Amino acid sequence: MGALVFLDLRDRYGIMQVSFDESVPEELRVAAGRLKPESVISVTGKVRARPDGMVNADRPTGAVELLATSFELLSSAATPPFEVDAQQAVNDELRLQYRYLDLRNHHRQRALEMRHSIFLAIRNRLDREGFWEIETPMLTKATPEGARDYLVPSRVHPGEFFALPQSPQIFKQLLMVAGTDRYFQIVKCFRDEDLRADRQPEFTQLDMEMSFVDEAIVHDVIAETVADAVAAVRNGVRPQPPFPVITWRESMLRYGSDKPDTRFAVELADVTELVAGSEFGVFSGTASTGGRVRMLAAPGGASFSRKEISGLEGVAKEQGAKGLAWAKVTAVGDDGAVTLEGGCSKFLGAEEGAALVKATGAEEGDVLLAVADSYAKSAQALGAVRVAVGRKLGLIDDDKLNFLWVVDFPMFDQDEETGALSPAHHPFCTPKEDYPGQLEKEPATVLARSYDLVLNGYELGSGSVRIHDSDLQQRVFEAIGLPADEIKSRFGFVIEAFRYGTPPHAGFAVGLDRLVMILAGEESLREVIAFPKTATAACPLTGAPTTIPAAQLAEAGVAVLPAATPKSPGTSA
Ligand code: AMO
Ligand code: AMP
Repeated sequence: MGALVFLDLRDRYGIMQVSFDESVPEELRVAAGRLKPESVISVTGKVRARPDGMVNADRPTGAVELLATSFELLSSAATPPFEVDAQQAVNDELRLQYRYLDLRNHHRQRALEMRHSIFLAIRNRLDREGFWEIETPMLTKATPEGARDYLVPSRVHPGEFFALPQSPQIFKQLLMVAGTDRYFQIVKCFRDEDLRADRQPEFTQLDMEMSFVDEAIVHDVIAETVADAVAAVRNGVRPQPPFPVITWRESMLRYGSDKPDTRFAVELADVTELVAGSEFGVFSGTASTGGRVRMLAAPGGASFSRKEISGLEGVAKEQGAKGLAWAKVTAVGDDGAVTLEGGCSKFLGAEEGAALVKATGAEEGDVLLAVADSYAKSAQALGAVRVAVGRKLGLIDDDKLNFLWVVDFPMFDQDEETGALSPAHHPFCTPKEDYPGQLEKEPATVLARSYDLVLNGYELGSGSVRIHDSDLQQRVFEAIGLPADEIKSRFGFVIEAFRYGTPPHAGFAVGLDRLVMILAGEESLREVIAFPKTATAACPLTGAPTTIPAAQLAEAGVAVLPAATPKSPGTSA
């Protein structure tokens, strides 16, 4: 500006305006005026109040500036591929390719700082509680968390592979057998699974395990630790444990989810019995074939347009539902008589309508939304609609942190087609048998002493009381249909370890990336990990994964199948 030169100087702590006026030699001013954005300088001067009318109220340092007396260019910057402080969205791939520039953004620095503060608070707390942080191997054997493994070929043992750990599950249990009593670790886990905004192929857990405890003590330690972590980044405002507890069954029934967002009050009702005789075939047909009809009332939803309703129907269909039935509640009389309009209302009798309004707690001006399907699918689909309704109607308070324990999960998931059982969590959870032999006779009905910690609709962590008896462990492996030789080759060392005196133990793992993401108010884990992967599990910055030169492959004893030739050749190291 005329003879004046202004620069914005950014560092980790914020942005400061630097001004050069006539008091500095002209060649300095000219040089300052020619600086390229993102260049690195050293500057000396005097901090002063900005002249009247120059104060920038939008900036913490907006009332002051540095009046430069000299400066030195330490490193000139090439033109960056995007503006670091740009308000408009920058393409994600490009941001990750130049992550070191993206991270210069104050917002991202804040996320890294939060991450540090959270990790520190956790370590401090657990140290005070008598826990030791113990590392477990990264080069190990397949662990049973249910995802695919990342494999590492062994040069020394050609044809053999290590697996990167999906979690330290087995080692932490062996540490209990080893008598270490209270273990924790902030640890990387690796899972080759389909990625989503809240899933990365490598992520960080707060992993812990304790001996001679039950679930109540684990809940207490985890809740207090997480509360400290929150307080560390929310100016000391600390959630107050104990957190509420709900059973898995009740959670599915009321929220259609095992990780309910309880920040808003809308709940599902199971109305199957009320509509068993309905003229609406979708309802009565489902009821008569053993399915469930679930319904909720969206507050004020009678004002939804057809387009808005079909948007919600899309949400239900994404979850595999066949549709979303609806009816608007346009009047509720003092006598309980109701008027329903639109959608499936023409098929609903007066008494039926009144019963549905009562069951859902609907009021005049609401819309009833329903999904008829199998037990699980109806819950899942209407549960997703519930969350969409909450967002759409602005019912969710973003500042709230609603922690919730979900307990008593089923021990096994059952494949709808084949009937095959797999561990719902992992095979080391203690089953809660209602009668001896239930594990063999009706395994699908067995619950587990397992628990999840849920925060604002996200699964923050899971854990369980473990099996510490080799016979029971063997029975669980058999229940999931593992052949004896596979039990022996995969888990023989665990069963063997349990034979030498095993303290009863229980534990937990918190997904720390998720915790930081929620506390930072972000929608994706990518925003809170310094160098994350893309949705296709790649790193645009380094170009990983890459092809490997033939000689190196041969040394590792690996041959690449022709079908596995990369689509876009990576840059070989
Ligand atoms: P689980 O598999 O439930 O349990 O994992 C614990 C927590 O880790 C987080 N998490 C992830 N975060 C980001 N990306 C992923 N791909 C990902 N997968 C899981 C979640 C999850 O709740 N060994 C057991 C714990 C135990 O029983 O003690 C385990 O790993 O927040
Ligand atoms: P249709 O009989 O397919 O024309 O559907 C009539 C209405 O019922 C539409 O609003 C559908 O979205 C809805 N619908 C269809 N199948 C189901 C179902 N299984 N559960 C809930 N609503 C459904």
